[in-house]
Amino acid sequence: MNFELKTLNRARLCAEKCDALLVLVPQEMASGNDALSRLIAAATRAGDFEAKPGNLLQAYRPEGLAATRLLLVGVGDGSPRHVRSAVLAAMAALKSGKALRLVLCLSLLKDAAGQAIHPALLSCGDASYQYSATKSKVPNKHFQRAVVAVADAPAAKAAFAKACGLAQGIALAREWGNRPANHATPEKLAGAARELAKLPRISAQILGPKEVAKLGMGSFTAVARGSEEPLRFIVLRYQGALKNQAPVVLVGKGITFDTGGISIKPAGEMDEMKFDMCGAASVLGTFRTLAALQPKLNVVGLIPACENMPDGRAIKPGDVVSSMSGLTIEILNTDAEGRLVLCDALTYAERFKPRAVVDIATLTGACVVALGGVRSGMFSSNDALAQSLMEAGERSLDLCWRMPLDDIYAEGLKSNFADIANVAGRAGGAVTAAKFLQRFAGKFPWAHLDIAGTAWKSGAAKGSTGRPVALLVEYLLSQTESSPAKPSRPKSVKSRSPAARA
Ligand code: BES
Ligand code: MN
Ligand code: ZN
Repeated sequence: MNFELKTLNRARLCAEKCDALLVLVPQEMASGNDALSRLIAAATRAGDFEAKPGNLLQAYRPEGLAATRLLLVGVGDGSPRHVRSAVLAAMAALKSGKALRLVLCLSLLKDAAGQAIHPALLSCGDASYQYSATKSKVPNKHFQRAVVAVADAPAAKAAFAKACGLAQGIALAREWGNRPANHATPEKLAGAARELAKLPRISAQILGPKEVAKLGMGSFTAVARGSEEPLRFIVLRYQGALKNQAPVVLVGKGITFDTGGISIKPAGEMDEMKFDMCGAASVLGTFRTLAALQPKLNVVGLIPACENMPDGRAIKPGDVVSSMSGLTIEILNTDAEGRLVLCDALTYAERFKPRAVVDIATLTGACVVALGGVRSGMFSSNDALAQSLMEAGERSLDLCWRMPLDDIYAEGLKSNFADIANVAGRAGGAVTAAKFLQRFAGKFPWAHLDIAGTAWKSGAAKGSTGRPVALLVEYLLSQTESSPAKPSRPKSVKSRSPAARA
């Protein structure tokens, strides 16, 4: 979707030609003597419209307005949350028609700081996204252009630019998340990274099976063994600051399809395991946004990408493999493959001497049970980093919730045949998975986002959400102004609980 920012006061709004004029109406609004203000006042007086969040009133060729369709939508107090639900409701109502040119009007809001732009523009972008990559007919493009009307465009310019860049990143993450596994192979993900490297300040390096084996990534290699598709290890860099400034490293789980391997998953809904690379997609999307916004910081993106398949050569329950860190791993369940590819990527991250490492993974069904689709699970051995991520989530409306990392949760990961097992019991599955990763993240401030519940939707609305690109971007932007997170104690295995360290 293409957005354009325009100053439109009420009189000019009335004269603006478009297929649909979507007006956000706050509960407290100054009166005016133009056609639009009169219409809102009359409808309110008659009890046909109330500016409660999400309330809608539609009109066709309203008198005194140049718009073909008018949609009034209440935003209550005008808070970002209400703006989001209002725009989503209005866009859903518009879906049936064939509006191509949309005016999204924020001019009636008291919003000097441009706070409403972010949720308005992102919800508008979200609602207009249409998947088409593997459809024979490209569906009617509903909304290609939207004019975002505000009371003072120059004042809203920065917020507008940020939201536009973010919308592009989210759309890219959704697109790659949605593509089926045969159209989003490890090599195709690598291709997406190469495309990103054409953008300013971004470079990409792609490693194949030989190079990965040479690095000693025995754990990642083991997962990829069962597939005919060769693995790819994608290294993305965004350089927005001096070369010597320590980067933030993002590690995205890139399992392009997760059958479970020999510990095979049940057939029902297995198709949704094409979304098991949404962590990787969120890294690609974040880099798209970095290219658009050009913030002053350095970021590295690491994506271990492969399929998890059953095969004659596939890993078997009980197999022991050597990770890049030197730790040996007993693979008790081949379906706990995400942690097996991430652990080697975490070890690889050490070479960047990062100020922080954040991994993003559709890691456990247990996290879906714990938090559903509302908040991503967030685990961190570093309180400052955890707080930054939590706040970034709240600001961007891409929520997460901190989960525990008490060492006692790692008890079940003991193995009689290796240094560590890849699964513990059923209880606390999201936490024990995080404890496994923590063993490989002792040398830098680290956080883990389990996005198994938030990265995609099931059922009729099946599709990728683009989360947590907004959270990641908000976090990264917050790092341009502040000092690096305080390093946690290097040894993580015997670390105290987060509460004790606080
Ligand atoms: N990709 C899955 C996690 C998943 C499952 C996400 C369902 C969303 C919905 C992951 O690789 C996996 O299979 N995890 C196992 C771990 C278990 C074997 C310890 C799980 O959650 O069942
Ligand atoms: Mn799995
Ligand atoms: Zn998986």
